[in-house]
Amino acid sequence: MNALEAHDLVFTYKGRGQETPALRGCTLSAARGEFTAVIGKSGSGKTTLLHCLAGLLVPNQGHIRIGSSFLTEMNEEQRSLFRLQNIGLVFQSCAMVPELTIGENLRLPFEAAGLKLDEERLAELKNRLDIADLEDRYPQECSGGQLQRAAIARALAGNPQVILADEPTGNLDQENTLTVFSMLKECQREYGQTVILVTHDLMLAKQADRMVMMEDGRILDS
Ligand SMILES: Nc1ncnc2c1ncn2[C@@H]1O[C@H](COP(=O)(O)OP(=O)(O)OP(=O)(O)O)[C@@H](O)[C@H]1O
Ligand SMILES: [Mg+2]
Repeated sequence: MNALEAHDLVFTYKGRGQETPALRGCTLSAARGEFTAVIGKSGSGKTTLLHCLAGLLVPNQGHIRIGSSFLTEMNEEQRSLFRLQNIGLVFQSCAMVPELTIGENLRLPFEAAGLKLDEERLAELKNRLDIADLEDRYPQECSGGQLQRAAIARALAGNPQVILADEPTGNLDQENTLTVFSMLKECQREYGQTVILVTHDLMLAKQADRMVMMEDGRILDS
């Protein structure tokens, strides 16, 4: 059984009298421990797809299964808890609470849900990502790349079964891009985590197990 399955997703943004179809029958599945790179033009629906897979958006049609759970049959509260326990999110805008230090930001989602964080794993991630000394700094005192690396540590800290990364290396220099990419590969290899990576970087995409192309709200090859 595939670790992740999104079948025939339709999603349309509605607002201010306008409708923008973003997913038009999008189907994607991934085996456990498979590393899939999603490429495609700007506006083709990649971020929308990841937001649906993360349960942040609810598709108008279609279903999403992760492991043995159907995300599309859960209510908002169930989706939030499921996301926290099963999905690592690394998004373009890595939201950190400005009033909290990086250390507090990393622990916040887990503490808020009463979940225990694997401190050893977090320390290892912080070392690997070279952010160990940012613990007591506030987000506005960090560079864009440092914030992005902190967001990656936060996403991986809970050892999620699925990692959804939306251009996680967008703000990073070449050295950090390689570090982040090799960490995602390691998650896949050592922990059997399923990784879906959206990237504009073809060199990275080519190193995935599989590369799929998104166009006009659909995955062309899957
Ligand atoms: N919040 C929103 N409200 C209305 N329309 C939106 C919203 N977010 C995205 N869209 C539209 O949905 C479509 C898909 O956008 P999406 O962000 O998923 O594309 P993308 O493939 O991630 O692009 P990029 O590579 O630029 O990040 C686009 O037409 C976009 O304008
Ligand atoms: Mg996007």
